[in-house]
Amino acid sequence: MGAILEIKHVSKFFGGLAANADVSFEMAEGMIMGLIGPNGAGKTTLFNCITGYYPPSRGEVLFKGMRMNGLEPNRVCRLGMARTWQKVRPLAKMSVLDNVMVGALCRTNSLTIAREMALEQLRVVRMESKADFLAGGLPIGERKKLEVARVLATKPELLLLDEVMGGLNPAESEEIIQLILDIRKRGVTQMVIEHDMKAIMRISDRIVVLNSGEKLAEGSPEEIVTNQAVIDAYLGSEH
Ligand SMILES: Nc1ncnc2c1ncn2[C@@H]1O[C@H](COP(=O)(O)OP(=O)(O)OP(=O)(O)O)[C@@H](O)[C@H]1O
Ligand SMILES: [Mg+2]
Repeated sequence: MGAILEIKHVSKFFGGLAANADVSFEMAEGMIMGLIGPNGAGKTTLFNCITGYYPPSRGEVLFKGMRMNGLEPNRVCRLGMARTWQKVRPLAKMSVLDNVMVGALCRTNSLTIAREMALEQLRVVRMESKADFLAGGLPIGERKKLEVARVLATKPELLLLDEVMGGLNPAESEEIIQLILDIRKRGVTQMVIEHDMKAIMRISDRIVVLNSGEKLAEGSPEEIVTNQAVIDAYLGSEH
């Protein structure tokens, strides 16, 4: 069985700064990959390179064997890859339902079908009672869940979650963890950026650690928490 995602020697330069430096790894279908590392390690930049938002300066990204370098985000979404944003930015003056419909419209031109698809995903994140609320007025926990519902409505095969638990209280984080595990049961492959090590340990099949743009380590959660280089660069100081 081939990998759903292959990252091959990806580098991304901003002027003289290598935000990603020769990063390579693969993801098998259906798995959850944790992506961790200190602030500024290059995690979000790697998401941007994977989803075509930035073309990598060097190297390539293959999704289901297709080269993604520099494809338009809309095209990437239709091919089956969707990401959330670390800084959630819902369409504030639109309703919660309309925000999720924007995701569904990647799959259909019918507003009726998009509405049904959006309602289904609002039920998944347990926000159906908020469908008519303005997205801009939601508290952070619900904005994060709305973001997840919006990307789920695009019917992705690969979902990339950028700190969806950031800023949430323990109960809200637990809800997101259960959501991620439910999404895995439905066969969707996921890459998850998160600083909360307890959460990452629980949900990840494997973990990649970035540090100063480079891949510092890759392995099972047990291998990563006992890896001396990872402890020195990340776990020892912050956790
Ligand atoms: N558009 C950009 N232009 C210039 N520099 C950038 C740009 N985007 C990111 N960087 C730089 O690239 C480096 C990696 O940033 P990135 O946001 O990918 O880190 P991160 O691992 O996601 O960090 P955090 O945990 O804080 O979200 C940082 O030094 C950042 O300042
Ligand atoms: Mg980031």
